[in-house]
Amino acid sequence: CGIVGYIGTRNSQDVLLEGLSRLEYRGYDSAGIAVMTKQGLEIRKAEGRLENLAGRLEGEPLTGEVGIGHTRWATHGKPSDENSHPHTDVTMKFSVVHNGIIENYLELKEELTAEGVEFRSETDTEVISHLIAREYQGDVVKAVQQAIRHLRGAFALGVLTEYEPDRLVAVRCASPLVIGIGEGENFIGSDIPAILQYTRRVYILNDNEMAVLTKDAVDLMTIEGNSISREMIVVDWDALTAEKGGYDHFMLKEINEQPKAYRDTMRGRLREGLSGVKLTELKVITPEVLREIRNVHIVACGTAYHAGLVGRSLIEHNVNIPVETDVASEYRYRKPIIKPDTLVIVVSQSGETADTLAALREAKRCGASVLAITNVVGSSVAREADDTIVTWAGPEIAVASTKAYTSQLIAFMLFSLYWAEQVESLSQEEIRHQLAAIEALPEQVELILSQEDQLKRVAEDMAKHNSLFFIGRGVDYAVSLEGSLKLKEISYIHSEAYPAGELKHGTLALIEEGVPVIALVTQPALIEKMISNMQEVTARGGRIFAIVDQAHKEQVAKTADEVFVLPTTLAHLSPALSVVPTQLIAYYASLALGHDVDKPRNLAKSVTVE
Ligand code: G6P
Repeated sequence: CGIVGYIGTRNSQDVLLEGLSRLEYRGYDSAGIAVMTKQGLEIRKAEGRLENLAGRLEGEPLTGEVGIGHTRWATHGKPSDENSHPHTDVTMKFSVVHNGIIENYLELKEELTAEGVEFRSETDTEVISHLIAREYQGDVVKAVQQAIRHLRGAFALGVLTEYEPDRLVAVRCASPLVIGIGEGENFIGSDIPAILQYTRRVYILNDNEMAVLTKDAVDLMTIEGNSISREMIVVDWDALTAEKGGYDHFMLKEINEQPKAYRDTMRGRLREGLSGVKLTELKVITPEVLREIRNVHIVACGTAYHAGLVGRSLIEHNVNIPVETDVASEYRYRKPIIKPDTLVIVVSQSGETADTLAALREAKRCGASVLAITNVVGSSVAREADDTIVTWAGPEIAVASTKAYTSQLIAFMLFSLYWAEQVESLSQEEIRHQLAAIEALPEQVELILSQEDQLKRVAEDMAKHNSLFFIGRGVDYAVSLEGSLKLKEISYIHSEAYPAGELKHGTLALIEEGVPVIALVTQPALIEKMISNMQEVTARGGRIFAIVDQAHKEQVAKTADEVFVLPTTLAHLSPALSVVPTQLIAYYASLALGHDVDKPRNLAKSVTVE
C-alpha cells in the first residue's frame, strides 16, 4: 500500500492525487483521500485504479489545504469502496490511512464492538480510527500514542482530526514512512517518489517514531513522546527517472536500462587495471570477518530469491564456501542452523519486504553477520543489516522486476570476487579475467536488446499457448525459474521451470505435440546432457526455443526448433545475459495478450506484510 499526506497552502486534493499516482506500484486495488474542508473532514474513495478515484473527484471535488491519501493492496478485506482507506471513527471526526498489518485486530474489534462501536469495513485499519477516537481527550498526538499502544503488528499511519484541523500526525512502526519538508508546507509519504514532485528534503522516520506536522513545522518524537532530532536528507534523484522516459511501459524501459544499471552497479567498485574489487561500504563485514565465515545463507523472496540462486553458485564457484538459499518466508520457520561464523545475505529490491526483514532479524538474533543487497538506500533492510551493498539500478516501477534482478547478479559477482581476494581462493589473474568479462556485460546486453524483434515474434507465438516450460541445468536452471516467474507474473500463461535432468521424472508427462519449451543452454560442461534432455522433449512433439551461447549454437540448433544466440561470456556469469531474452519474451507475450504489463493482477511491487 502507499500513503501520502499534505499540510500547507495548496489544494491538497491535487497534491494527494499526484503523490498517489507515484505510489500506484505499491498497490492499486483501491484508493481514497480525506481532506479537511470548510465543512469538516470529507472522504472520497473508489475501488480499482487511481483513475477511478480521480474520476469521482472530478465530479465531487474536495477543497482544503490539509489531507491524507492512500492506495491499497488488499490484505484484510477484499478490494471495495468500504475497505479502501481513509477509515474513520463512528463520529467521522478522525481519519486514518495505514500501511501494514494489525495482527491483533480481531481481538480489538471484539473489544470495540462490545463497547458499542459499529464497524463499516472488514479491514484491520478501521480499529485504529476507533481506538484513536476512544482515546481522544483534546490532544490528537496523545490520542494516537495511546491508541497505538494497543496495536500489535506493522504499521505506518497518517492521522487527521477535525478537532485539530491544522495538525497532521504520522507514525512509523515497522512500515516505512518519510517526511518531506517544504516552504510553508510539509508532506508525508510511504516512499520518496510520493513527494519528490514537491520537495527533495526529507526526514526518514525510524521504527517507533512519529512526526507531528503543521504547515510551518515538523516535530519528530518517539511514540512515547520523547522529542528527537534527525538529519535532513536531500534526495538527489531526478524526478524524471521515475517516469517512463518514452517507453510504452515501465517494464520495457527498465529492461532497456539494464546496461546502465550494470555499469552503475560496477561504478567505483573496480580497482584500476581490474586488479580487484573495492567495496568500501563493508565496514562491519571486514576482510577479517570474511576470513572466518564458514557458511553462507542467502535469503530473499520472489525474483530476489532467484538472484540468490545465482549468487549461491557465484560464491561457491569463487570462494569455495558452502551456500544455502532459502525463500525468506520458509527460512525463519525451518530453524536454520545459524552460527556466528554464518554470513546471511538478504537480497531485496525494495528493502522493505516483510518476510525478508523478519529473516534478517532472526539471523541477527542468532549472531550471524548480515549483509544486505538492496536497491533502496535507507530502506529497512539496509538500515538493519550489518552492511549493505547497494545495487544502483535506480527506481524500479514495474511490478515485474528486471533491472533490479540483474543488478543483484552484478552485486553478487563483485562481492564473490572481493571475498575471493581476501581468502585467496582465486589467483589475481583469475580475478582479473572474471572482472574483464563482467565489464563486458553491459555492452553484450545492448547487443541482446538490439535483437528484440526475434524475441517479440517468438513471444507472440508463445502467447497462443496455455502452458509452457523452461528447462536448464546449473545456473541455467536458476535463470529458468526467473524466466518462468516473469512470464507467469505478467502474461498469466501457466509455466513451469524444471531442471532439465529432472524432466524425465515427472513433468515429461505434460509434453505433447506443440507444447513450447524454452531451453537455456549456456553451460559447456553440461552441453551433451542438455541436448539429450532436449531430445526427450522433441521426441514427444515439444517445440524447443533454445537460448544458447555462441560456442554451441550449431550443435544445439540440430535439436531445437529455433535458437537465440547469446554473446560469449564465462559460464558462471551467463545469467546476466541469458535472462534478458526471457524478460523480453514475458513482456511481449503479456503485450500480445493485452494485459496490464506494469501492474499485473493480484501482485504488488513491494509486499510489506508477512
Ligand atoms: C514482490 C514483487 C516481486 C519481488 C518480491 C521481493 O512479490 O512482486 O517482484 O521479487 O516482492 O521483493 P524485494 O523488494 O524484496 O526484492
